[in-house]
This record gives sequence, structure tokens and C-alpha cells, in this order.
Amino acid sequence: MVHADPAPAAASLLASWQIDLPAPDHVPRERVVDIRFAMGGEANDLLDPYAETDRLRAPGVPRLLFSPYGFSDKTCGTWCVSHYEDIRRVYEDNEYFSTKGVAQFQLLAGETFPSIPLGIDPPDHAKYRRFLNVHFTPVALQKLEPKVRALAVEMIEEFAHRGEVDIAHDFGRVYPVRVFLDLMGLPFAMFEQFLAWEYEILHSRDHARMGAAVTQVIAYLREFIAEKRKNPDDKLGSYIANGEIEGRPLTPDEVIGMTWFLWLGGLDTVASTISQMFRRMALDQALQQRLRDEPGLTNTAVEEFLRMQPLVNSFRLVKKDLEWDGVTLKAGDYITCLNSSGNFDPAQFPDPRTFDPARPVNRHYTFVGGIHLCLGAHLARRELRILVDEFVKRVPTFTVKPGADTTVVPGLLSIRNLPIVWTPAG
Ligand code: HEM
Repeated sequence: MVHADPAPAAASLLASWQIDLPAPDHVPRERVVDIRFAMGGEANDLLDPYAETDRLRAPGVPRLLFSPYGFSDKTCGTWCVSHYEDIRRVYEDNEYFSTKGVAQFQLLAGETFPSIPLGIDPPDHAKYRRFLNVHFTPVALQKLEPKVRALAVEMIEEFAHRGEVDIAHDFGRVYPVRVFLDLMGLPFAMFEQFLAWEYEILHSRDHARMGAAVTQVIAYLREFIAEKRKNPDDKLGSYIANGEIEGRPLTPDEVIGMTWFLWLGGLDTVASTISQMFRRMALDQALQQRLRDEPGLTNTAVEEFLRMQPLVNSFRLVKKDLEWDGVTLKAGDYITCLNSSGNFDPAQFPDPRTFDPARPVNRHYTFVGGIHLCLGAHLARRELRILVDEFVKRVPTFTVKPGADTTVVPGLLSIRNLPIVWTPAG
């Protein structure tokens, strides 16, 4: 058999992405590319918005590319890795890669405390994780399960007879946030205000508006903490406000650093996942039917929804100079892990573009990997599994409402409105 030489194809792909924008001197010019198609910023109507990322893993394409588009005022670009193995290396090698600077929106409000645990490197990271894990162990989550299930059932039954619901706005946006507020002991009365602030921070793309929202959130959370110190309860917010590590009380910066980051990480993520999950189900009736006929599939199906809809491409700060793939990464550079590509790497996932609700091994990076693996992953999975179980039991075959716009900016923004329709039983 004659194999085509991949080199010319790779060279022409690389040439098609090359772009003449400034990059640091140590970055070879031919590696400076426009690969925003893999970054998830383009609104589209596709079930598989990341299909094009396969080209990044074509044989002969350099494994480390440099995107000159900064993701904040202070950065002038980032290295990018797109192979599963390379992403794993970045997440797991804490000697060379750090989370300093990741998701530190509080800087926009002039705050200097770190996001905890995300912004903390080893060895300190482990002590914060141990402290917080108490509320996220399987036993703690098992205790929460009946409440979460009752909430899902109550909310679904409220609309099941109607034959129509905006599943993104009226359900997906509300259900996980109600679970989160209850977990933290935050008042439900703040629901709309929290989501409005969260939207400004994650989606306005305007630093002044982001900073204003962060200032208000942090002021609110500081009052909440003061109140929980006066009147403690058994919720996570109070546990942090009155927390101790290594025999000493947490400092005010540690308390707000944890409370703030949980607020940021816990509000929008499951909601975005739900809206994308329902869009896929609404467009794929055979999948819905399978989930109804084989309830045992729920766990693996949820994992597959998560794999196929990675919400973020995480980045890391390079701590020390490093030679890799024929280039030098310098201390102070950033490197982005394209989960939007790694989750579809055929070296890790057989037939990766096929949605397989029974996929037996599914170690995707939607929750990243290594020590910063999402603390809320088990809670999120549980919320999603309960939802799929209870929904398909109560709602017959559903479709997207004719004429509805299912356009989505992939990632955290997700679908704001997704009306779905069905014929109610009886
Ligand atoms: C489907 C839902 C969720 C997704 C896709 C998700 C995604 C992520 C990702 C990608 C990270 C790592 C960020 C990075 O390393 O750059 C992360 C970390 C984290 N997430 Fe989630 N998350 C979800 C739900 C939640 C929930 C519900 C909570 C809290 C109740 C939460 C709390 C956290 C925390 C505390 C971290 C930091 C962990 C550490 O640094 O050790 N997440 N999450």
C-alpha cells in the first residue's frame, strides 16, 4: 500500500493559519497562527462545533502552536496544545505549569486575594482541597441526593403537562443554581441578581462592566461571610466563614478567596451544560428513545454529553523555561489546553466524533485533569444524571420548537433560550 506523504498537507494547513501579528521574540514566526476556530468564540448552529479541531492534530502539524490573541489586557498571546497527551502533560506537571492568573476576575475590582483553590499551586493547594472536600465527598453528596431529586421532579412536573418549556431559560438556568444556593446557604432571593452579575463577569467582554459586577459580588459575599460568622449554620458558606486549617482560623483573604471562587464556578457551568445537552437530545430522537428504553445508560450518557461539550479551554502559566516540540517556552508565557480538541483525540477516544451514550472509558477534560480537576464534578454529574432520569420518565419525545433559534456561542455562554415542545400524555 502507498501512503501519501503528510508533510505537504501539514505545511499547507500551517500556512493557511499563519498570521502576521506580534508575538514574543522566542516564538518562531511559522508557529504564530490564527486558530480561533478551536477557541470556541464563534456563534454557530452546529451539533459538533469543534469538528475543525481535527486539523490541529493532522500528521505533521507542529504540536505546539502560538495564538497571538491575548485573553486579557496583560497577555499578548498563548501557546496552544491540542493532543490529549500534551494536554495531560500540562495539567499534571506542576513543576512547569501553574494556575497563577487563571480566572482571577477579582483583579478587575482591584482585589489582591487569590481564587482558592484554583489559583493556588502545590503544596498549599492540597490543604484547601482537603478542607473543601468535606462537602463534596460521595457521602456528603449522597445526603444531598434526595433533595436534588425532589427539586428536579417538582420543576419538571410543573411544566410536563403543558407540552412546552424554555428548557434553557426556565429550567436549566434555575435548577443547578437552586442546588448551589442551598449547598452554600445563600438566599434564593438573590437568584436573579447573582445571575445578572455572573453574566456581566463572564459574558460582557467589557472590563469596566466586569469590574463593576465583581465589586458588587465581593461586597455582597463579604457581608454574607460576616453574617455567617455571627449566625453559623451547617451549610458550606458558613463552614468556610468559620473554617480552620492546620489548627488556625482561615484568614479573611482565604475565606473570601474560597467563597468567591465557589460562587464563580458553581453558578453557570451546569446551566450551560444542560442547555447544550437538551439541544442535542431535542435534535436526536433516537438518542432520547434509547435513554428511555435503557435507564442504565444514564451515567455513561451524561459523561458523553460532557465530553462532547467542553465549556472551557483552560490555560496555565509557564513557571520555568522548557524545551518542547522544537521550541522554547519561557517562564511567564501562557499555554492553553484546547480541551475542544483533546476531548476528540482518536488516540484516546475511539471514533471520537460519534456520540456514544455507552462509551465505556471516557476520561475527558471537560473538568480538566490533574490536581485542579473540578471540585464540583461529582455534584454536577449527579445533578445531570438525576435530570436525565427524571426528565425522560415524565416527558415524551420532544423537539426544538419550530422556528426557534438554536444558535450558541459554545462554551460558558451557551444557549439563552431553547423552547422545546412535545405532546403531553393524556
Ligand atoms: C458541568 C459543570 C462544571 C464544569 C464543566 C466545570 C468545569 C471546571 C473546570 C474546567 C475547572 C478547572 C479550571 C482550570 O483548571 O482552569 C473547574 C474547577 C473548579 N470547579 Fe468546576 N465545573 C462545573 C461545575 C462546578 C460546580 C457545580 C462547582 C461548585 C459547586 C465547581 C467548583 C469548582 C472549583 C472549586 C474548581 C477549582 C478546583 C481546584 O482548583 O482544585 N464546579 N471546574
